[in-house]
Amino acid sequence: MSAKIAEDKLAEIIIEQDELQNRIEEMGREITDAYEPGTELRLVCILRGAVMFMADLSQSINMPVTFDFMEVSSYSGTESTGTVRIIKDLEDAISGEHVLIVEDIIDTGLTLRNVVDMLETRKPASIKVATLLDKPERRDYKHIDVDFNGFEIPDKFVVGYGLDYEEKYRNLPFIGVLEEGEYN
Ligand code: XMP
Ligand code: MG
Repeated sequence: MSAKIAEDKLAEIIIEQDELQNRIEEMGREITDAYEPGTELRLVCILRGAVMFMADLSQSINMPVTFDFMEVSSYSGTESTGTVRIIKDLEDAISGEHVLIVEDIIDTGLTLRNVVDMLETRKPASIKVATLLDKPERRDYKHIDVDFNGFEIPDKFVVGYGLDYEEKYRNLPFIGVLEEGEYN
């Protein structure tokens, strides 16, 4: 029901539910193929936006995985503050582990650059990055290399499938753009 109500405030849907799910299954296969058979993978979900993506993606990864969660903050409203703060750190040590950071969206890449740098100091066996969405127009390639990328999208503020505007719209099963006036 809430998805229906929120739909009225959307200017457009840019990725439909079935397209999203098909690509995520394909990403799971790409990730499985990228590691040696028998590797155990620590999935690190960047809260809160990547929750849905990680839950679905993990089901298409055909190898043993464990979950951990980290929350960082770099944004307030739709503007970047350019700084990253740890709100919740990982529960478990990652030393010697193969880590896959699971992120909802890469805008400039600054958030992820900071997270990768920080996790690298903990001496994991490897760190790779999977993002559902990437805004290449905004991307500063000095910041980050992405190993697995779901969709490239235009430079618009998007919501749904974990992504929020002021904590709302995360439950939409698709990716949409809000109507002008809903957020500015
Ligand atoms: P940077 O610029 O550091 O930003 O790559 C990444 C973080 O910014 C948030 N972000 C968005 N959140 N819709 C959202 O709901 C968007 O269109 C959007 N663009 C950036 C997001 O939290 C991401 O982790
Ligand atoms: Mg947000």
